[in-house]
Amino acid sequence: MKVLVTGGAGFIGSHVCKALAEAGHEPVVLDNLRTGHLWAARFGPFVHGDILEIERVAEALKTHRVDIVMHFAALAYVGESISEPDIYYRTNVIGSLSLLNAMRLAGVSRIVFSSTCATFGNVDRKIGDNEAQNPINPYGASKLMVERILRDYAAAYGIGSVALRYFNAAGCDPSGELGEVHDPETHLLPIALQVAAGTRSQLDVFGTDYPTPDGTCIRDYIHVCDLADAHVAALNVLETGVFKAFNLGNGNGFSVRQVIDRVEAVTGRKVVWQAAPRRLGDPPLLVADATAARVKLGWVPRFSSLDDMISHGWSFMNNQQNKLAAT
Ligand code: UFG
Repeated sequence: MKVLVTGGAGFIGSHVCKALAEAGHEPVVLDNLRTGHLWAARFGPFVHGDILEIERVAEALKTHRVDIVMHFAALAYVGESISEPDIYYRTNVIGSLSLLNAMRLAGVSRIVFSSTCATFGNVDRKIGDNEAQNPINPYGASKLMVERILRDYAAAYGIGSVALRYFNAAGCDPSGELGEVHDPETHLLPIALQVAAGTRSQLDVFGTDYPTPDGTCIRDYIHVCDLADAHVAALNVLETGVFKAFNLGNGNGFSVRQVIDRVEAVTGRKVVWQAAPRRLGDPPLLVADATAARVKLGWVPRFSSLDDMISHGWSFMNNQQNKLAAT
C-alpha cells in the first residue's frame, strides 16, 4: 500500500518508513524539515511541505495515489507546550484538522495517528486503552483533541482511524542507519547517553520527591522499532467509519534513577547527575497495559529490554560522533 507519512523525516516517522518499506509498502514522506532530517527520509519519495497547507497536501495525496496516511508531524515537548501552548494547538490540532480535510479533498479515508500516554495525566496504575483521559499539559491535551476529532470524523465522514498511544519511545534502528537526533534534546535516555559519552557535563534529575519508591518519575520505555512494527500491524485493523485506539508500552516501569543505573551498566561509563526541581507537566507514573495491542494487532515487541534500547542508542550516538570526527 502507498502510505503518506507526515513527519516521516523525524525520529519515530523515519523508523516507521523503514518498517513499512521492509513489509512491502511504499512510504511517501511529507515533512517541513523544521525538526526532521532529510537524511532520515530515505525509504521513498519525499515531499517538502507542511500539514497546514491543505491544497498542497491534497495534491501530494493525489499525485502519489496514496491509500493511507500515517500522521506523526507534531510538536512533542511537554515543557515547551506549557510555555508556548499557541504553537502546540496550532500545529498539533489545527495541523491535524487540515490534514484530515486534505484527505477528504483527495478521497483518502484511512489514517493511523501518533498519539501519546500524555493524554492520560495522573493515573496510579497500569493504563489500559479505556482509562479516562485527563491530560495535565497542553501537549497531551492537543493529542487528545485530535483523538476526539478522529472519532467525530469517523462517525460523520467515514474516515477510519487508529490512534496509537506511545509510552516513552526510546532506542533506535539496531543497524545504526536511523536514530534519535533532536535539537534541543530534552529526553532522558539520549541526555543520559550524552553525559556518559562526555558530550554533556551532567544530567538534571527533574524531581526527587515524587511518590515513587526512589522519588523520581517512572516511565514505560518502548523501543522505536517495536512502535514501528505496531504501525505496520495497525494497517490490518483500519475500518471505514470506525475509530480505534491502542496503548503501546512494555508494561514495565523504570524510574529516572533506574534508567541512569542501567545506562551506566550498559555503557560502562559514569552518568554525572544532580537533583533539580520538578519539571512542569510531568506525571509521576506512566506505565502501559498494552494487552489489547498484543491481542488485536498481533503485536509482539522484539526489543522489550531497556538494555537493548540503551545499547542501540549508544551505538548510534558513537557512530554519529565518529562520522562527525571524520568530516
Ligand atoms: N527527565 C529528567 N531529566 C532530563 C530529562 C527528563 O529527569 O534531563 C525525566 C522527566 O522529568 C521524566 C522522565 O525523565 O520524568 C522522562 O522524560 P522524557 O522527557 O524523556 O519523556 P516524557 O516522559 O516527558 O515523555 C512525554 C510523553 C511521551 C511523549 C514525550 C514527547 O510521556 O508520550 O513526552 O516528548 F512522546
